Parts: sequence; C-alpha cells; structure tokens
Amino acid sequence: MIRKTENYFILETKNTQYILEIDAENKLVQNYYGAKINDYIPNRSHVCSFFCVEKNEKSDEGKNIEYPTFGHTDFRTPAFSCELPDGSCVTDFEYSDYKILDKKRSLEIMPCARSGGESLIITLKCKNAPIRIELMYAVYEDCDVIVKNAAIFADGEDILIDTAFSQSLSLSPEYDNVCYLAGAWARERHVQHQKLGYGIFEIGEARGTSGHNLNPFFALYKNGATETCGEVIGVNLIYSGSHAAKIETDRFGGVRALNGINPFNFRKKLNKGEKFETPEAVLTYSAQGFGKMSRNFHDFINEYIIPAKWAKKERPVLINNWEATYFSFTEEKLLEIARMAKELGIELFVLDDGWFGKRDLDNCSLGDWTPHLKKLPKGIDGIADKVLEKGMKFGLWFEPEMISEDSDLFRAHPDWAIVTDNLTPSKGRCQLVLDLTRSDVQDFIVSVFDRYLVGGKISYVKWDMNRYLSDVPRKGYCHEYTLGLYSVLNRIFKKYPDVLFEGCSGGGGRFDLGMLCYFPQIWTSDDTDAVERLKIQNGTSFAYPLSCMSAHVTITPNHQTGRVCDMDTRFAVACFGVFGYELDLAKEPEREKIKTQIEFYKQIKEITLQGDFYRLSDGNVFSFQAVSKDKSESAVLFVKQLSVPNVIEKAVRLQGLKEDSIYFVNGSGVSFSGADLMNRGFTPEFAQGDYKAQLLVLKEKKEK
Ligand code: GLA
Repeated sequence: MIRKTENYFILETKNTQYILEIDAENKLVQNYYGAKINDYIPNRSHVCSFFCVEKNEKSDEGKNIEYPTFGHTDFRTPAFSCELPDGSCVTDFEYSDYKILDKKRSLEIMPCARSGGESLIITLKCKNAPIRIELMYAVYEDCDVIVKNAAIFADGEDILIDTAFSQSLSLSPEYDNVCYLAGAWARERHVQHQKLGYGIFEIGEARGTSGHNLNPFFALYKNGATETCGEVIGVNLIYSGSHAAKIETDRFGGVRALNGINPFNFRKKLNKGEKFETPEAVLTYSAQGFGKMSRNFHDFINEYIIPAKWAKKERPVLINNWEATYFSFTEEKLLEIARMAKELGIELFVLDDGWFGKRDLDNCSLGDWTPHLKKLPKGIDGIADKVLEKGMKFGLWFEPEMISEDSDLFRAHPDWAIVTDNLTPSKGRCQLVLDLTRSDVQDFIVSVFDRYLVGGKISYVKWDMNRYLSDVPRKGYCHEYTLGLYSVLNRIFKKYPDVLFEGCSGGGGRFDLGMLCYFPQIWTSDDTDAVERLKIQNGTSFAYPLSCMSAHVTITPNHQTGRVCDMDTRFAVACFGVFGYELDLAKEPEREKIKTQIEFYKQIKEITLQGDFYRLSDGNVFSFQAVSKDKSESAVLFVKQLSVPNVIEKAVRLQGLKEDSIYFVNGSGVSFSGADLMNRGFTPEFAQGDYKAQLLVLKEKKEK
C-alpha cells in the first residue's frame, strides 16, 4: 500500500515500511526503512548540518537525500551527475509533485518486474537547469519487496549524464556490514562478508556483463545477523550489463548505498526532450536474518521476474552432450545417448556446442549457424526428427552474440565485430563480440532463430555468451550493447514464447535479474563438481531461487576438479536445482540408478522449485531444506565433506515445518513431530568416506 499523509509518503509491505519525507527546505529525504513503525513518524532526517557555519546556512550534508545529485551542498557520492551546456556540473533538485498509480509502469527497452500493485512516481525538479527526475517506487506486499528506479528528463537543453544510479538508500550507522557474492569462472557467487568503515566500499563489473566476479546482489546488515535472526536489507538490480554498487560510510557514520549502471566508462548524451531510464533496483528488508531475505527474493523472482508462462511450469529433465562428448561427436553417438536417456526417463536431449560451421574446436565458426554436415549429415532437422521420434524433446545450443575471425560471417562482415583500429583484436576464448548496437546485427541474430525455431522441432535453447566485452568504441557503449541485447531478446521471446530458453555465460557469468526476465533458468556454473557446487548453489541462493539454478549430474572423476564423488552425492546436490544430466551414459557405471533418481526428483521438484528454501548449515556438513508452501512436505539435503572418525554427527535443526504436525521420513514408518525436528533437530547418518550425502523427504501425517 502507498499513502501520502501530510509531508510523508508511506510505502508499506506486509512487514515493512519505507518512508519518504518532504522536508522544510522542499527536499525529498528518506525518513525510514525497516520493520513497520505504525505511522508515528518523528522528523529525524536532518540531524546534523555541521557544514553550516551561520544559523541561516542550509546544507544537504547530513540529510538522507533520497536521490542525491552532485555539485551543491551534499559532498557524498551522488546518484546523479551531469554536465550542463555551459560546462557546469552543479545541479540541485527539489520536490515538485507526485502521483500514485494502480499499477507499475514497464520500462521502454529494459526488462523489469511485472506489476504487483500500486506504484508511486515522485517528480524532482532541478532549481538551476531544465532537468526533471522521476523516481518510481513499486510495492510487492506479500514478499516485502520494494522496486525503485529513476528516469531523467532533459526538458530544456542537451545534457551529458555521467552517473545515473537506479537508487540510493540511506541507512543508520548500525548497518556497517556488507554481504556480497564474489568469484570467478567455475567459482561463481561464493558468499563474502565485510565490515564497513569510513570511506567507500564498491562492488561491480566493467566487463559489459553482470560477470562471474561480483554479482549485482549485496546485503547490508547489523552486527549479529545470522540465517535466522537480525536485520538485513538485501539489494539487487534488474540489469545484465556493467553494474556497480557503492556503499559510502560518511563522516557521521551514516551509510549511503547506491546501485545501478556502473558510472565507470559510462556517458549518455541526452538531447533536449529526451528521457533516460535507469534499470530497476530491488530491495527487501528482513528482521529474520539472511534466510528470510532470500525467501523474500525467491518469492518475488518466482512471481514477478521469471516469465509468467514458465514461473510455475514443469521444466523437463534434460541430458546435455557437452561434458559427454565436447566437440567430438557423430549423429550416431548423440542418438545412442538419447536412446539410453529415453529408456531411463530423461525428457529432453540438448545438443551443445560444435554442431555448426566447421566447429571441431573453439577457434572457429561462431556466426555460421549452418549444420556441421560431417557430424550431422542430415542437419539439425535430421537429428531433431530422430530424437522427437523417440518421444523426447530436442534442444540446441547457440552463442548468438559472438563471431569467430575464422567464419564466413566475419569474412562477409568484418565491421560487425567490436575491435579497435590499429590494435590487435583482443580475443576471449578465440572469439570476438558482435556489435549488438547495430540494427543489421540485431536483425541477423533474430533471423538465425527464425530459421531454427519456426518449425517447432526445437523446444529448448541454451543461449551462451563466453567472453566479456573489450575494445568498446566509446563511453557508454556497454549500456548501449546491453540495450541492443535486450532489443534482440524482446523480439525473439515475443515470437517464440513456447520455447524454453536457458541462459549461460561461461557457466554462471551472467546470472542476474535482467536475464531472468527472459530465461527462466540459467546454467549456474561450468563447475559440476558436487562439492564445489554446494558453495556455488549456497551463494546463489542468497539472491536467486532454486527454480532458476540449472544443476547437472556429471561423470566422476569430475572434469573441473578431478574429485571422485559417488553417483548418490552427485545426484543429491543436483536435485536441489533445475535438474539434468551431462554425461556419456554409455560410460556411467551407476547409470541404472538414474531411473530411481528421476522418480525421486519428480517427487520433490514442486517442493524445491516452488517452496520455501532454508540454508541450515554450511560447514563440514552442508545442509539445505525446501518446504512446500503449505508446510505439508519437505525435502532435506545433508552432505558431509570430509570424513571424521570417532565422532557423533551433530543434529541439524530443520525449519519451516508445522510444530504440531507429525512428519514421516522417506515413506517409512519413522516419524517425528515438526517441533522435534525444529528444536532437537535431525541427525544425519552418512556412509563412511568423504563427500557422502543423505536426502530426506518428509510428509505430514494426514488426519483420517
Ligand atoms: C560454455 C558453457 C558450457 C558449454 C560450453 C560450450 O563454457 O558454460 O556449458 O556450453 O560453453 O562451448
């Protein structure tokens, strides 16, 4: 609910309030964000103005300016700065007017959250130049989420924007800890914690994508916050390009957190009469620690981000040939895998990289999206028909944003690649990136999908992106590229809504809310080692639900780590995600287990993909739990990492169950009360050896 009372705007969700105030100097300031304070709002936003010497001097320093701009009396990091035609960079904004809308508006090109109800638009006007800023707020009551963004209007003259964050958040000094997700290829989204001190803490990427290294998610929290208690504010961004979050602890100890498009290497010339939209930022407050913060995000993403058609729809259990064959396959080999997969209950066969041009290695053919006839004599239609005849679905890998120097596409259109004149083209994985800001390149990519998707034989596409952007031709290009990508995706997704698209970027290098607006699932990491995956899936779950994390069972020893893990553990970890296989079934000694694994997965997938998720422990024993929304069923995963002799395993306290109900374990007669499982806990029993897993399915006893 959104209300205006006197000079306050009150945005309310089930458990939280976000309060804005128009102060005595007509500035829009943030008064409060946290648990509900029931409308008794003290005026606290301008506690100190130490900058002022004289009593009548006015200053914004020490005020919680809601969308701070550069140049006047606020010396902290601004959300907005621009150059005016006379070269000045000074702007000073004040409150102008507001409107409350029944629904939230959509952005023009960029993906955004679907409306969940009311939104508020507050207009700020610049006092010294014809510039207007519209701040948008949308409330998502059930999941305690608030979505914010800013739109800039050059009303009377051209301006040059160099910083335009999506939002700014002002918090009290107790929010002096930050949690964020960092990593690299094959180590994506490991959880990090950092104590904040005076100065600026920054996370971000200037690589043109949301990246493997620093995900756009972060959370600010008060001392002592844990999985189950304490105050935490989670922030994320609906954007897939270069992003940044700056958290400044000012000289009074106040915390300002900004996030949005990375200002580094950014510039936008806004001509008179034009508007610039920033991506939407997503905020949630939890008084019950990181666990509740994550569940708020999960519910929000499942309900308002993932394409509505796919949000609750079953995702097929797939088999992908990448780790089974890499580039070296024949149609016969692929069909052998498909045949065995069908017999075991797998529903979708995905043909990965290497099916096009003359691609036998990763050094050629990107852009030549015609079948590799030596491997596939009857082309894609030929193999697709045979897979469909077996009663399976067929899926295909593309890397549409790329071009190899050794390709017919490059020979025909060398100017389509992003390069810098007089410099050796800087390649990543031997390839160059297509200039997606060009309309002819955009048309080309759409035409490739028209060629393959029109016939309806392909029901799944894996959209990969295996390098970052370099050699960008101008400031602001990374944002233009991202808009180009979104334009292409908008066109393709409108035409082919029934095709399931999976996102991928060298594993999980573009795992963000922008991509999730198109791709209901994303390949979480190229690291398929079950033990490494625990850390990756654990970190990813801080900000993203299991319903969008693809996870596959692969062969042992693992190709990324060389670690040996039995089939049960590899399965147990993968089944806490969108599940599939990626191995040569002919070489998997334990493949007969797959039938039962799929049956088990089907039993729990509604619980894991749509239920509430709890992280129970992450030490030597990792433990995840999912509970159905009605609390009648639960799936629990325990994985012991290193084996320790002569100890009693510790009990793990479960969460989210009904205290008074009785739950049966794994269809047996063994039962516990919810209260017992949540207070005393469950003691896992592991087989001897390292990396052993135990899975539980709990079902509530129904009264007769
Ligand atoms: C990336 C993906 C892999 C696979 C290869 C193919 O690394 O993450 O899953 O598709 O590309 O080249």
